[in-house]
Amino acid sequence: MKTVQIKDKEFRIYLTADQIDVAVGKVAARINADLAGKNPIFVCVLNGAFVYAADLYRKITIPSQITFMRMKSYSGMQSSGTVKTIASLHESMVDRTVVVVEDIVDTGYTMQRMIAQLRDLGAKEVYVTTLLRKPDACKVPDLKIDYAALEIPNDFIVGYGLDYDEEGRNLPDIYVVND
Ligand code: IMP
Ligand code: MG
Repeated sequence: MKTVQIKDKEFRIYLTADQIDVAVGKVAARINADLAGKNPIFVCVLNGAFVYAADLYRKITIPSQITFMRMKSYSGMQSSGTVKTIASLHESMVDRTVVVVEDIVDTGYTMQRMIAQLRDLGAKEVYVTTLLRKPDACKVPDLKIDYAALEIPNDFIVGYGLDYDEEGRNLPDIYVVND
């Protein structure tokens, strides 16, 4: 079993780069079909979603744009419950079809906040895609996640853009903490 050590924690392999690639391809195909003709703008939520956004966006074949927004809610292995916008958008969202690109939806507070902000900025419609979703951790009833590549149990994971205390984002596969 492949394991990695990051600081004080050991992690074991959970999803391989090949498995992730297949799941990302399925989401891209759905978005290409559903949003054709809408000229969507993708909004990548930094930091964690940068790897997913790069892979997903290169599989998007319809006319579209991409931009970036920075949010922070996690410290260490816990969601802090308060979501901060660290860097906001420069592009107009007025009357746009927006696709939020997130790495993982855990409590759901970050996505709830993102969707509300984009509506306030005048977006016509807001879709959400996330690489991973932890349905058992969700604290926002009725949170609308349109395109989740993979659903996982409520365990802490790293790799493929996701960090443990700012490390592990460069791992090509996804790992789960060993407890
Ligand atoms: P939420 O606001 O609780 O849904 O948390 C979303 C953010 O917390 C994500 O964008 C991630 O950056 C981070 N996060 C949630 N779960 C994990 C995890 O298992 N590993 C690493 N980061 C996570
Ligand atoms: Mg994130």
